[in-house]
Amino acid sequence: MVCESNNKSYLKSQNLKIIGGSTLRGEVKISGAKNSALVLLAGSLLTDEKIILDNVPLLTDIEKMCKILKNLGVKLTTNDHQLTIDSTHVSIKELPYELVHGLRASFFCIGPLLSRFGEASIPLPGGCNIGKRPINEHINGLKALGADILIEKEIVKARILKKGSRLNGSNIKLNCPSVGATETLIMAACLAKGRTVIENAAREPEIQDLCQMLNKMGAKIYDSGKEKIIIDGVQKLHGCSHKVIPDRIEAGTFLIAAAATSSSISVSPVIPSHLEALLNKLEESGSKVLIKGNSISIKGKKIKAVDVETAPFPGFPTDLQAPFTALMTVAKGRSKISETIFENRMNHVEHLNQMGSSILVKNNVAYIEGVNELRGETLVGSDLRSAAALIIAALISKTTSHIYGLEHLDRGYENFEVKLSNMGVEIIREITEKNNSDSNYKSSVIKEKISTGVNAA
Ligand code: EPZ
Repeated sequence: MVCESNNKSYLKSQNLKIIGGSTLRGEVKISGAKNSALVLLAGSLLTDEKIILDNVPLLTDIEKMCKILKNLGVKLTTNDHQLTIDSTHVSIKELPYELVHGLRASFFCIGPLLSRFGEASIPLPGGCNIGKRPINEHINGLKALGADILIEKEIVKARILKKGSRLNGSNIKLNCPSVGATETLIMAACLAKGRTVIENAAREPEIQDLCQMLNKMGAKIYDSGKEKIIIDGVQKLHGCSHKVIPDRIEAGTFLIAAAATSSSISVSPVIPSHLEALLNKLEESGSKVLIKGNSISIKGKKIKAVDVETAPFPGFPTDLQAPFTALMTVAKGRSKISETIFENRMNHVEHLNQMGSSILVKNNVAYIEGVNELRGETLVGSDLRSAAALIIAALISKTTSHIYGLEHLDRGYENFEVKLSNMGVEIIREITEKNNSDSNYKSSVIKEKISTGVNAA
């Protein structure tokens, strides 16, 4: 597994040195989806029998989630990309704040714990660099299912008042199609009494993957992937084996990197229907895309400026907004990138401008004037996807860059620099003893970012 990140030392000691200007070639293997594996781990709490998960990505977020489950008494054994989870002896206790704070997905444990044991105490996940990340949809839905919720001292205490009874199925209409809330409520409803209907549900592929695993465990979930999901509660769920779907965001990041460097690569395994919105925008911006079974090939051409607006699935994914913005910095013409999901997901723009791009941000819309080239810089990525965007920009530039903030990158991309290096990029992970407060850093942003540490995604 990836070594656990001690944020401060991690932040100060590791960077990716990238010699820009090379093209990518060959095929890259896509890992299991982070945002599926995390919720599948939470879902394994719903049974006292063994769950075997295959194709689990080796990421620090997965390591953190495993630590959280172990804290609850779950037994986990790892064998390369396979995880065996045994939740027979789960002892309910409050999850320690330091474990939960850095990982939003930990909050998704509230549904399974409440539904199986009648109680759960989870610290509030808190906001992060990209937004406030509220949980009102989770709370309102759990209340609709009959849970009593108390929030005190930043801890969410959920319980079923009548000892020994179950949650009650209910009709729930989400105000916004929240991925996490949809997942929490599906897991809570699986063991509730009667039928639950979730309207305005999120439709992301990771939710469909969760429902597939839960149905293998004996749940009765219908129409996952549609905006109205029906769950008929059952008494008990049993163990199963399940393979995590490929990570559409990792695949999309590599496809964007190829388009940005006029490269020809292929990515597999992927599920092409999970990437439709991105593929349409890559073709509109001039790339040639070919789908063959579970593989997608791309040939980057002259980049045309296109407009993008992020939206819930099947719209353009917010997690690819920052990488796509990096692509548009060198597109011919003007483009407009609108972030409609998170209120603060433009942190990469100031760094891209330091590399020579011409972007103006107003009310969560990035107005981009394409430039001919970017120059390498030493910069710090401030969240998972902005770090990926800076790496793409470093590949575009013809000089050398040093990208810090790898504690973010390693949360969501398995062996990112190894995969790029295997495709012909000159990139190495430098472990430096240098203290980042050295005055030799060009940008004040570096010092300021170094002091802020890591945030949840
Ligand atoms: C999941 O986060 C993903 N994380 C995010 O991926 C992804 O960006 C996001 O879905 C949107 O696709 C995981 O699955 C672990 P949301 P989640 O609830 O569930 C508002 C990455 O880079 N909202 O769908 O937290 C919220 O403020 C990460 O891999 C409420 O108002 O996202 C936001 O504006 C980043 N009330 C919008 O909904 C709530 O109770 C979407 O949030 C919940 C959310």
